Amino acid sequence: SNDELVACYNAWATRENASNPAAELPMSSTEFIFKASGIKSRYNIDKVGTLDIDRMRPRVRTRSDDEPSLMVEIGGIAAREALANAGREGRDVDFVVLAASNIQRAYPAMAVELQAHLGSTQGFGYDMNVACASAAFGIQAAVDAVRLGNARCALVVNPEITSGHHNWRNRDCHFIFGDAATAVVVEPLETSTAKAKFEVLGTRLKTQFSNNIRNNAGFLNIAETTPRAWDDLLFQQEGRKVFKEVVPMVAELLSGHLADLGLKPEQVKRFWLHQANLSMNQLIAKRILGREPSELEAPVILDEYANTSSAGCVIAFHKHHADFGAGDIGLLSGFGAGYSAGSVVVRRV
Ligand code: COA
Repeated sequence: SNDELVACYNAWATRENASNPAAELPMSSTEFIFKASGIKSRYNIDKVGTLDIDRMRPRVRTRSDDEPSLMVEIGGIAAREALANAGREGRDVDFVVLAASNIQRAYPAMAVELQAHLGSTQGFGYDMNVACASAAFGIQAAVDAVRLGNARCALVVNPEITSGHHNWRNRDCHFIFGDAATAVVVEPLETSTAKAKFEVLGTRLKTQFSNNIRNNAGFLNIAETTPRAWDDLLFQQEGRKVFKEVVPMVAELLSGHLADLGLKPEQVKRFWLHQANLSMNQLIAKRILGREPSELEAPVILDEYANTSSAGCVIAFHKHHADFGAGDIGLLSGFGAGYSAGSVVVRRV
């Protein structure tokens, strides 16, 4: 909860200030967090390590090369659930896109490990990193592969262990992230055995360079002539600038995509938007609709989950699609670092 996180940060900051009064670290507050972001709680892969003021990061057990990696383990749980909903099994999968903000190692690709973990012996897989827009980018890759006949049962998996890239000692953003994993199955409509089928009417992606969300962790860190500070190897952002620049970029992308598909915004029953900040989501939906969105039109899950990076829009879809009837249209969108943004328009079959 926000209370637990604030208590941990404030205890650490108080101790730092006592040992170095010049540090003048500011205190965090639960009220600010909820007001600024709409977040009330988040899930964490290891709450104990994250809330230990001597550590303030999750404890991830170092695994042997013969064990499933943590990303594959949690991605596999989401994948199996998605496959069960699609009436499929792991062996049916012939394309795995593992799309996330962070990849646990360089190679072999996590997607290839996941393919084996699920029992698939056919097709191919690869990793993709487009930050919070990774789900939408992964879905476009899957849709394209299925359309071209290069895959018949594609799986897009988003295991987001954001707690690993997060700076829990940065008061201005220590509250924003949560951990989650999601998965989506993409198949030709005519062979799909899913309980609830959604036809993909179109996908559209956009990227535009910005340093306002940045993470400098990479394989060359060890070779760099000036070693970087530990906090330069974690997520960092200029939150206000991100807010101001990403809202118009995403609203324009989504409005243009709908128009090109011959759809009016009012024909869209639901916008499953990336969950980073409540006002940001409301503003994007408002710009598209030309009025305030209702809670049903732009559902919010970030109060419970916080920003789960690419998983957020898929969680919103997962929790808020059961009331769709045949012909109902929805739009799923992820956006974030890069900048990057994606739009996936679907219709319930
Ligand atoms: N507790 C108490 N006060 C805090 C605080 C905290 N945890 N963090 C910041 N503040 C203070 C600041 O010091 C500042 O005080 P001042 O006005 O006296 O200078 C004030 O609150 C506002 O700070 P600011 O950082 O401008 O807050 P904000 O309203 O921009 O909200 C975010 C911060 C991160 C919630 C918001 O910018 C955001 O969500 N941006 C978009 C982020 C995003 O989507 N990122 C994508 C990641 S994938």
